[in-house]
Amino acid sequence: MRTRHFPFTIDESAREVWLTLLWQAMQDTDFSSAAREEYWNWMEPFSLRMVNRRTTKAQPVRWAFADMPAVSDHA
Ligand code: HEM
Repeated sequence: MRTRHFPFTIDESAREVWLTLLWQAMQDTDFSSAAREEYWNWMEPFSLRMVNRRTTKAQPVRWAFADMPAVSDHA
């Protein structure tokens, strides 16, 4: 998956945009509320691995599920 993503510049801020859009998409698609936390807890750490143009040695920002804004539950 890293190789597949290498042609695209993914820096720390691109990761944050991507995570924001994932969160938004889960809202827009009625992503199962039962699976949301588990999926997020897989994707959020995975997103760290997709960053292929680091611009800082600082620790990346972690987006814990518990700290994410409430998502309205359409279920
Ligand atoms: C941190 C940011 C990103 C993460 C965590 C991420 C994660 C993923 C994941 C999990 C898949 C597999 C989806 C599936 O098959 O079910 C995927 C596929 C893909 N992503 Fe990303 N992505 C990120 C950023 C980007 C960006 C910035 C681009 C391009 C501008 C991109 C282009 C693609 C493409 C073309 C595929 C299809 C790969 C294939 O099927 O061979 N991704 N990505």
